[in-house]
Amino acid sequence: MIATRLHPDKQSAAQAVAREIAELIELRSKSGKSTVLGLATGSTPLPLYAELVRLRREQGLSFRSVVTFNLDEYEGLGPTHPQSYRRFMEENLFRHLDIPATSIHIPDGLSRDAAKDCADYEAAIRAAGGIDLQILGIGRTGHVGFNEPPSPADCRTRRVHLDEVTRRDNSVFFGEPGQVPHGALTMGVATILEARRIALLAFGEAKADIVARAIKETPSAACPATWLQAHPACTFHLDAAAAKKL
Ligand code: GLP
Repeated sequence: MIATRLHPDKQSAAQAVAREIAELIELRSKSGKSTVLGLATGSTPLPLYAELVRLRREQGLSFRSVVTFNLDEYEGLGPTHPQSYRRFMEENLFRHLDIPATSIHIPDGLSRDAAKDCADYEAAIRAAGGIDLQILGIGRTGHVGFNEPPSPADCRTRRVHLDEVTRRDNSVFFGEPGQVPHGALTMGVATILEARRIALLAFGEAKADIVARAIKETPSAACPATWLQAHPACTFHLDAAAAKKL
């Protein structure tokens, strides 16, 4: 069952999820354990990342014990490409925190052997002890990460083809649709479902339809976010506009 939490605005949602992350880090580091976070890109998590940066700067929250795994990366984009997710994460989060560089993981958009690199990514998540908390956004196609429809519940980290709706939506970051890569490497649905806790964030009216589908539709590959219904600890953090169709 998916739990929903309604927030007055996206800043409040960001604060609530940032607090959850801070508590998790503090609790686990007390007993010498690392905290493994699954991270997302897109415009949705930006207020969350700004809040985490604020907690680091103003309250001295340390991220030294944090290990991160990002959901996805565009195929063909290297780490310094302005639209790569690696660069997005560096600019909006990593360079402002004290996470050791070796604890940061993002699929390699320039991989020459995607099958091997994706299997290695899965192995690295397992070796880190699994993901404690996975942050998600949601695409209007029902994708989580870049698991476009149809994505079965048992799919793993792999190379995928992007939906044209997604390429159009994401073209705002690229200037024009033609510049958006056609492929990506993404954690799979099964990989995401193995996270011990999941926090999906969705804000604004444009997400209202897909949020309602994810929560109400019978789970199927046609709307990959519906697979989250099977997770024992998944919360959707919404503003009123995104919750409008519930
Ligand atoms: C992107 C990302 C997803 C993200 C989604 C929503 O393409 N690969 O991880 O959740 O689309 O993006 P936004 O938050 O900008 O609406």
